[in-house]
Amino acid sequence: MKIRKICCIGAGYVGGPTMAVIAQKCPEIKVTVVDFNQARIDAWNDENLDNLPVYEPGLDQVVAEARGRNLFFSTAVDKAIHEAEMIFISVNTPTKTYGEGKGQAADLKWIELCARQIAAASDTDKIVVEKSTLPVRTAEAVTDILDNAGNGVKFQILSNPEFLAEGTAIEDLHKADRVLIGGDLNTQGGREAIEALVGVYSHWIPRDRILTTNVWSSELSKLTANAYLAQRVSSINALSELCEVTEADIDEVSRAIGADSRIGGKFLKASVGFGGSCFQKDILNLVYISRSYGLTEVADYWEQVIKMNDHQKGRFAKKIIKSLYNTVSGKKIAFLGWAFKKDTNDTRESAAIYVADHLLCEKANVHVFDPKVKAPQIQSDINYLQSRNQEENESLLSIDTDPYGACRDSHAVAILTEWDEFKTYDWQKIYDSMLKPAQVFDGRNILDHDALRTIGFRVYAIGKA
Ligand code: NAD
Ligand code: UGA
Repeated sequence: MKIRKICCIGAGYVGGPTMAVIAQKCPEIKVTVVDFNQARIDAWNDENLDNLPVYEPGLDQVVAEARGRNLFFSTAVDKAIHEAEMIFISVNTPTKTYGEGKGQAADLKWIELCARQIAAASDTDKIVVEKSTLPVRTAEAVTDILDNAGNGVKFQILSNPEFLAEGTAIEDLHKADRVLIGGDLNTQGGREAIEALVGVYSHWIPRDRILTTNVWSSELSKLTANAYLAQRVSSINALSELCEVTEADIDEVSRAIGADSRIGGKFLKASVGFGGSCFQKDILNLVYISRSYGLTEVADYWEQVIKMNDHQKGRFAKKIIKSLYNTVSGKKIAFLGWAFKKDTNDTRESAAIYVADHLLCEKANVHVFDPKVKAPQIQSDINYLQSRNQEENESLLSIDTDPYGACRDSHAVAILTEWDEFKTYDWQKIYDSMLKPAQVFDGRNILDHDALRTIGFRVYAIGKA
């Protein structure tokens, strides 16, 4: 079966870029991305490509090429579902904040809502693709809802998790290491559905990189791929603390470990802690699932990855406080970076939020500069934690539009995100404008520490004595 019309529910960080690339690579397929968030859809349709709701290098060109040709963004969810042959569900699946599984399980209410909307708006057979990251066996529930719609429509359910990383989304989509498609390999209908989706991706992905599995393997592989990646970060971060007390250097240790081809050099960069919308949520979900099957040791093993990450964020904040003579009350501390990594405007679960919160609890005056994150987002990230009331947050936390202004008259500058531009700043000028002793806390190990020390800075770097 050749697909001509695709609908994607959810125009977020995954739905937007993923569908833009499918539309770019498959000009004969009409791709409609729908969302019930009107403001988000308006931003996707904005004439000015700088106003797209997601910042990703290269995304603007892809959207410019396909939008209006075969790529459309709309709030008309039912209409798009009705006319599509293949429907991707790419909605958010955050950690539950209430009830059973609170703080660990994935909240699947938007997934269920999508399934019910699809069931209600369909009168022809459809292939439904889980693009969101989901607990293993979610397809069972989705199938149950769709099969009981009572409309005589036949649905095939596929799992096609997304592996793109933010900041490199377009590159990752263009040159994916692999595309994973889980489906019902035991039935003719299931195999045809898998082949239909393979047909979409094979427009640009080599066939040997498209892996097909059963649905459960596909669902579980996504959760566990993230757990594996995050585990590498927590492992190197655990070693960074050991380096600081033994005079080993974490970058040297990392290079030596990564040179082993069985281990590989990627994802071994020590940091102030991993952030992002998914690592923590997906591991917590893995922990919850393991516990719900009674697998205590498995759950405890993966939970440690999160505990280590919390420890890393906490000890960075404590290091700043200790170095500023155990009190930061009323002291100006500049934060360079708020996004959870460079080249994205996404701040979800960013380490910066937690480090700032720790310092604000000690009544520090934190001044933030980030090249892509806007002020209301930063205030809302801090307010969301509910550690203080909004007025107090507004009086303690300032957002600067100029990095030199953020650093002026500060006691310390902390690097929270590895934005390339931070390396090119005039650090002599920053030093001259700061209170002395001027301190730099490099939470990403991106600056030239010897050069900073020559200027006169006191420098703390992760994993270095
Ligand atoms: P997001 O919050 O940016 O986007 C989700 C969108 O879905 C929102 O705009 C929301 O309004 C919309 N939505 C929710 N329910 C809807 C409904 N019933 N009808 C219409 N619109 C609806 O989330 P995201 O970052 O794109 O993540 C989506 C999924 O992809 C999650 O499961 C996530 O774990 C997974 N994922 C994310 C990334 C990433 O880099 N962000 C990478 C791989 C996988
Ligand atoms: C991650 C995965 O890399 C993607 O494959 C996956 O699709 C995605 O999660 C998801 O499911 O959401 P993402 O969170 O966008 O992608 O970005 P990463 O590059 O993985 O970085 C995550 C965090 O780890 C960032 O805070 C980053 O700074 C940190 N990190 C990463 C380190 O501290 N050290 C490293 O060596 C690598």
